Amino acid sequence: MKISILGGTGDQGFGLALRFAKNHDIIIGSRKKEKAEEAVETIKKILSSKGIEYKNIIGLDNRMASKEGEVIILSLPYQHILSTLANIREELKNKIVVSIGVPLATAIGDKPTRVIIPPQGSVAEMIRDYLKESKVVSAFQNVCSKELECIESPVDCDILVCGDDKESKKVIINLIKDIDGSIGIDCGGLEMSRYVEQITPLLIGLNIKYKLKGSGIRITGLRD
Ligand SMILES: NC(=O)c1ccc[n+]([C@@H]2O[C@H](COP(=O)([O-])OP(=O)(O)OC[C@H]3O[C@@H](n4cnc5c(N)ncnc54)[C@H](OP(=O)(O)O)[C@@H]3O)[C@@H](O)[C@H]2O)c1
Repeated sequence: MKISILGGTGDQGFGLALRFAKNHDIIIGSRKKEKAEEAVETIKKILSSKGIEYKNIIGLDNRMASKEGEVIILSLPYQHILSTLANIREELKNKIVVSIGVPLATAIGDKPTRVIIPPQGSVAEMIRDYLKESKVVSAFQNVCSKELECIESPVDCDILVCGDDKESKKVIINLIKDIDGSIGIDCGGLEMSRYVEQITPLLIGLNIKYKLKGSGIRITGLRD
């Protein structure tokens, strides 16, 4: 599958690219193609140094990355998502668009243990209302970039997935099988993302309190 990661030059997108590059073509998107290409070189170096083989990885600007990908992951700061989408709405029509954003209050200079809830209820619903012709799925809010980038170790948490389009949600749950240690859990419709997004500030608070690298959550009872 061709996975485009807009803002894949940042921490979370970079970590997801490292995890998915073994089995999928990756397109790193950036406001600047050159920056995306630099990130690609770093990803290739890291994977090669660990002896991990990878598929095709390229860097493009966000618009071209949106055109190329089958699944588009929006790895952008919450407050810059809509302005980025304004230029690429057409390219995203009928595609699976993955919302990973958490509306942390750091966007307004407040604490990372607080959120500013968008009027639509969640970042995922804000994106759905804006991209009426895309299939929006919500995932990856509760997994820390530091967990993702340690590619030799399994990720020590599950990934909660929400979405209104059942087929698109299945695609993302299947993709998560490529993240060793994690399972993708169907949490219902997109509006459940309201609760999932608000778990992250709690996890950040726990990371601070217990000096953890990146806490996560596990759903018990599903593995037998
Ligand atoms: N970091 C985590 O551990 C974590 C965990 C869970 C969820 N998330 C979510 O994942 C998303 C990405 O997080 P992150 O930590 O990777 O973010 P980040 O590093 O701060 O930013 C990601 C990328 O966004 C682009 N960007 C920055 N300012 C922008 C602007 N004004 N307009 C358009 N693009 C801009 C930059 O790419 P270019 O300069 O290349 O364009 C940057 O590399 C966020 O929504 C966050 O809530 C993060």
